[in-house]
Amino acid sequence: MTEDSKKRIVSGMRSTGKLHLGHYFGVLANWKKLQEQYDSFFFIADWHALTTKFDTTEDLATNVYNVALDWLSCGIDPEKSTIYVQSYVPQIAQLHIFLSMITPQNWVERDPTLKDMAKALRLKGSSESQVSYGLLGYPVLMTADIMMFNANYVPVGIDQVPHVELSRDIVRRFNNIYKTDYFVEPEPLLTQIPLMKGVDGNKMGKSFNNDIKISDDEETTTKKIMSAITDRSRLRRDDPGHPEDCEVVYDYWKIFDSEEKVKEIDSLCRKGEIGCAQCKRELAKKVNEMLAPIRQKRLELAQKPELVREILMEGSKKAQTEAQKVLDKVKEVVRMY
Ligand code: TRP
Repeated sequence: MTEDSKKRIVSGMRSTGKLHLGHYFGVLANWKKLQEQYDSFFFIADWHALTTKFDTTEDLATNVYNVALDWLSCGIDPEKSTIYVQSYVPQIAQLHIFLSMITPQNWVERDPTLKDMAKALRLKGSSESQVSYGLLGYPVLMTADIMMFNANYVPVGIDQVPHVELSRDIVRRFNNIYKTDYFVEPEPLLTQIPLMKGVDGNKMGKSFNNDIKISDDEETTTKKIMSAITDRSRLRRDDPGHPEDCEVVYDYWKIFDSEEKVKEIDSLCRKGEIGCAQCKRELAKKVNEMLAPIRQKRLELAQKPELVREILMEGSKKAQTEAQKVLDKVKEVVRMY
């Protein structure tokens, strides 16, 4: 396939802090593979971070930098992908304004993922004013992100699919209103990766304090894994265990080791020949082994903040050039030159 005929993908991640293994297995490992095949645009969504964190911006810039460090150390490669920061590409904000004019209010109000976000804010006890006009525009801004590069596919997790569906509707409406077929209706590119659980068995997330960060050191990782819940019916080391009831540790084995190893652990556990503590210690070793080269690279990159910034600036410049072409086209069809 030649460079020009490659299909294009766009995806982003909100900059809310250091990334964890849920991000790695759920998103980054997939992007790393996809960048070999697609013309890839990956961006740090700092405006989207502002939709809910507009009043706590002291970490905004550091978070962008940390996300970049995590991406680069996990193998998202600036030679293969265009890596940029959303707010460094002002064309996106302009396109967002155009799209906000044509998006019916009730379309955004129906978006189930957005409803969940608003509900989560209310549950946290935030005031009604925390649900802002900007948050309502969350999926419209996402549409601008995608349409800005006329992407064919959007690799996302299942929770983001309603947003992408809405993006398709908005792009179609734009094409209809302005009588053009220039803009591609983007399709979600789903990954069949199961949700990574946190060490307490809930969905892995920073706010639940149950996550293993890509940038954690070995000791912290081991400590977190040693605290994981196991088969609750097993009281003594030589009680026969039930791997199917050991939702976290057994699941992690499946992610981190071979089928044979999983079978071996399964059988040792059932016979009561391996205790949970030993099992977790071995697992922690395995997890640390897998993360070692990534962490090493992260430490090296952290020594060169200028290089990381340069990569983001370069990528953003490239993204701006592409974005400007599309923005010119938008202005042309809307007749606002
Ligand atoms: N909403 C996405 C998330 O929380 C991040 C995102 C913003 C995104 N804009 C996007 C993903 C455009 C794909 C395409 O994960």
